Amino acid sequence: MGGKCADDAIQQESWTFLKKRLKELGLADRDGGVLRSKADCLRICMQGPIALVYPEGIWYQRATPANLERIIQQHLIGGRPVTDLAIAREPLGQRR
Ligand code: FES
Repeated sequence: MGGKCADDAIQQESWTFLKKRLKELGLADRDGGVLRSKADCLRICMQGPIALVYPEGIWYQRATPANLERIIQQHLIGGRPVTDLAIAREPLGQRR
């Protein structure tokens, strides 16, 4: 794939962690309320891996396993975005 925002191995490590952790916490898929999908490139191509959380539309940089744990605990469970990792906010339905 050759991602420009993060090494492929780092991206794969984050993806594997995210899948595993959401499942462990009972958050995965329709039963847990968190659906996930993997994109090859979001055209930011810097400070990745990049993670998006919708419907709030928060774009996160440096989505390493440690930072994904923070995003899961604070944002997905706690409902509060992790501001020091957020690089953009674009909620669904607000773009014209
Ligand atoms: S390679 Fe990650 S956003 Fe483009």
